[in-house]
Amino acid sequence: MICLGIESTAHTFGIGIIRFEYNPHNNHITPTTIQILANCKASFTSKKAGMIPSQVADHHVDVCDTIIMQALQKANLKLKDIDLISYSASPGIGHTLRIGAMVARSLALKLKMHKLNVPVAPVNHCIAHLEIGRLLTKAKDPILLYVSGANTQVISYEAGKYRIIGETLDIGIGNFLDTLARELNLGFPGGPKIQELAKNGKKLIELPYSIKGMDMNFGGLLTYLKQLINQPGFFDEYTIEDLCFSVQETVFALMTEVAERALAHCDKNELLLGGGVACNTRLQEMCAIMCKERGAACYILPNEYNVDNGAMIAWLGILEHSAGNYITLRTNAIKNAKKIAIDPYLRTDEVEIKYR
Ligand SMILES: Nc1ncnc2c1ncn2[C@@H]1O[C@H](COP(=O)(O)OP(=O)(O)OP(=O)(O)O)[C@@H](O)[C@H]1O
Ligand SMILES: [Mg+2]
Repeated sequence: MICLGIESTAHTFGIGIIRFEYNPHNNHITPTTIQILANCKASFTSKKAGMIPSQVADHHVDVCDTIIMQALQKANLKLKDIDLISYSASPGIGHTLRIGAMVARSLALKLKMHKLNVPVAPVNHCIAHLEIGRLLTKAKDPILLYVSGANTQVISYEAGKYRIIGETLDIGIGNFLDTLARELNLGFPGGPKIQELAKNGKKLIELPYSIKGMDMNFGGLLTYLKQLINQPGFFDEYTIEDLCFSVQETVFALMTEVAERALAHCDKNELLLGGGVACNTRLQEMCAIMCKERGAACYILPNEYNVDNGAMIAWLGILEHSAGNYITLRTNAIKNAKKIAIDPYLRTDEVEIKYR
């Protein structure tokens, strides 16, 4: 079978295509048959502003047909070869989620016109970040440090759900880095630019370190930094490189600390990094050192699977389909197509996991 996954929760419009087989004897997915055939994407960027939802949605409308064609060509397939469609239904920016859901609906209706009743699986984006990690690494039951633009969560699987055992109380770490970068006129996305500058930082500036139990927050630090960089004489004493270095050392240390406590509290010995900020090599290094010191394994994905991508949505679609969680158009296609909808605020820990 072939699954086409659609990602559109925020700045990225992505299409992933995965081939897989069900074992005819027990109806389980046969692991050796899973192949990622394509993982294509286009991401919104901006020199000055951050993400303006309506502009990002326009971007996705502009690129969606090209990315679908690119992915099909890469996989050497035609649309009618698709047996299953999945899309990010939650959580994310309403404007952009809607584009992905509409693409899923349109493709399903188009296939239906050719008498193909292709099921559509709505999936949770955060859980997709986790499951692609379990697919591509040896991690079996890891703590996930999920660090992206909108989300910062430390997640553990317990009793049928992915429980959030620590999280940001305000903004996500990526949004924090992007907003700081905007203040520094570095453009969007800012995380990679801060990483580059941080490599040449020499002086460590002491910054507020805010952990509350297992939770973190970054809003106060952001206000503090905005005031700091506008202080007269600040850049006479420190360089922008020093600032980026100090920010990374501070925020990544507190995330690594929460991840370590999660490993201890949940009695687990695997850490998996996911989300766009997991591309950061300094964060990867800190987590690897922490895991080594406590005899745990640290799993890091290739960047292509850390940032938002269609392949992870296709894979979670396959898992949800295997558990019977999908929509079919059947005889009343127009009415049933309306069920291909979005849920922008659905949290990771509200989703019941039936395939595990
Ligand atoms: N090397 C890096 N260092 C730090 N941050 C990075 C790096 N590369 C990307 N980022 C940050 O990752 C974030 C994007 O993450 P991702 O692609 O998972 O999208 P997202 O919209 O934030 O997804 P989600 O819906 O999961 O919150 C941006 O904030 C970006 O600045
Ligand atoms: Mg993401």
